[in-house]
Amino acid sequence: MCGIVGYVGSRDAVGVILDGLKRLEYRGYDSAGIAVVSSGGLQRRRSEGKLQNLVRSLAAEPLSGAFGLGHTRWATHGRPSEENAHPHQDCTGRLVVVHNGIIENYLALKARLEGAGHRFVTQTDTEVVAHLVESLYAGSLEEAVRRAVGELEGIYALVLMHESEPQTLVAARVGPPLVVGLAEGEHFLASDVAALLPYTRDFVFLDDGDIVTVTPGAMRLVNAAGEPVVRQAQRILWDPIQAEKGGYRHFMLKEIHEQPQAVRDTLFGRMGLEEGEVHIEELAGAAASLAEAKRVVLIACGTSWHAALVGKFLIEQIAGLPAEVDYGSEFRYRTPIVDASTLAVAISQSGETADTLAAFREAKRLGASGVAICNVQGSMLTREAAGTLLTHAGPEIGVASTKAFTSQLVALALLALHLGRLRGTLSRDACRRHLESLARLPHLMEQALAAPGPIEELAKAAVKASDFLYLGRGIHYPIALEGALKLKEISYIHAEGYPAGEMKHGPIALIDERMGIVALCPRGRVYEKMLSNVQEVKARGGRVIAVATAGDSEIRRILDAADTLLEVPALDELWSPLLFVLPLQLLAYYTAVRAGRDVDQPRNLAKSVTVE
Ligand code: AGP
Repeated sequence: MCGIVGYVGSRDAVGVILDGLKRLEYRGYDSAGIAVVSSGGLQRRRSEGKLQNLVRSLAAEPLSGAFGLGHTRWATHGRPSEENAHPHQDCTGRLVVVHNGIIENYLALKARLEGAGHRFVTQTDTEVVAHLVESLYAGSLEEAVRRAVGELEGIYALVLMHESEPQTLVAARVGPPLVVGLAEGEHFLASDVAALLPYTRDFVFLDDGDIVTVTPGAMRLVNAAGEPVVRQAQRILWDPIQAEKGGYRHFMLKEIHEQPQAVRDTLFGRMGLEEGEVHIEELAGAAASLAEAKRVVLIACGTSWHAALVGKFLIEQIAGLPAEVDYGSEFRYRTPIVDASTLAVAISQSGETADTLAAFREAKRLGASGVAICNVQGSMLTREAAGTLLTHAGPEIGVASTKAFTSQLVALALLALHLGRLRGTLSRDACRRHLESLARLPHLMEQALAAPGPIEELAKAAVKASDFLYLGRGIHYPIALEGALKLKEISYIHAEGYPAGEMKHGPIALIDERMGIVALCPRGRVYEKMLSNVQEVKARGGRVIAVATAGDSEIRRILDAADTLLEVPALDELWSPLLFVLPLQLLAYYTAVRAGRDVDQPRNLAKSVTVE
């Protein structure tokens, strides 16, 4: 998704904006641009491709100014090119805009504005905003923007500036996130806090419909009607270092290794081991809905959807509550049976995923109570939920989600235990026993990551495979899906996760020596069946990467030199997904590195998909 940074204050705006855009690179983009106002008036530089192309362009033709805005573009309308890169300008070249989102009625607006004499030079929807504001501008940028957004349909995070209004930025938000960074004598605007952490930790999170005007010393918030709006500032405790690579080659590898700490931090303060209780203060306001719910609907996308699938097992087994799982992008296009007895749980790392937000709103419109599991305090989802169980994974920069995923799993474990205790379907003793297992998780994850087995060696062969099939059963079927997603999204090798029991209903026709097979074989109810699946694959020439519990001698007997065994520490089956996923993350990472991929910013992907 696009990245936006704006600055007004006494610093060099170009430096602040470029630094901020670099911190937003993980959001995914294909071109970039910047505009500043200085004594020479409003000037713009744009470039296709990575930020270093923009830096080179600025080195060749420097810009300087005390206020400005910048953008990294993830193309929706109009191919990636310098001409289509933001900022876009009006006919006079004295007004510019950067935008994240989609203006759905841009063609009608463009036709009207062209009819009024406006000259367009790009294929983008965004350029319409520049000309629309220009057509309404009568000396107040805030007023022109406020009137213009009243004519826009779609979703947008916009930041604009006008050469004639020194040290002033105006921004508006419906949909994609936008935050205001607060500091003495200066203000910042950005798509998310990660861009601004070196400068401030105090932020105002704009809500849909907010219009904000910032100057170095003032911030003014109004709604669509021009009435003042009050938003509380929030202090974000992440420190800038957390958002750095910390000596790792990629953010993804750092975040894989941060998982034990992320799980520890997510569990911290919520486990009442002595009294066999779970303490989730953030859900206290929703306690009645949780206790009286007759069923749970888990809504998410991508990796978070895989976490939701694990959550289904946990909620049904621990709390005795029916649970179903829906893709955010599918939920509202069927006729979901939802009412006041339904508890909707939205799961999202970013809290800004458009499909998840839209489905969550639909579930609440149908009468469900809605809580969230999210990693970003202040994000849209956290402000729309009756309560949010925050995961404390810290900023997750790599597009491929890892520590957020395992933190979501422990958050779902806590939610399942909490539901069980609130509904009386889980005894204190049983709750205590589960908590004791969960308390061991961080240490066991550290052990698994410290001795992952020959994964880097494995990646040398894996990178040559044409396709991969990941097989799992029960609570490990979602982990098979997650392992496949990790591999495909960063190495670009086709991979799919399958319930192992489905092999004989089709996929077994695919097995040959070129296809990679990963089989998750934890000790537990389906262990023997998984061994049979491994033998079925081997009988057809398949080479297996098996993941099993350390010391498991049975699986060893059916594997041969063509196969690989990866072992993880023993733990109750319910919590073992958090261990079994680790080698799969590492396999995807090292295979992608071998394939020479852009691991942290894989092609075509964005960290937070804020468009539907
Ligand atoms: C996972 O590695 C991907 N980055 C993607 O599937 C992601 O999980 C999905 O877009 C949902 O994002 P969210 O958790 O921020 O809602």
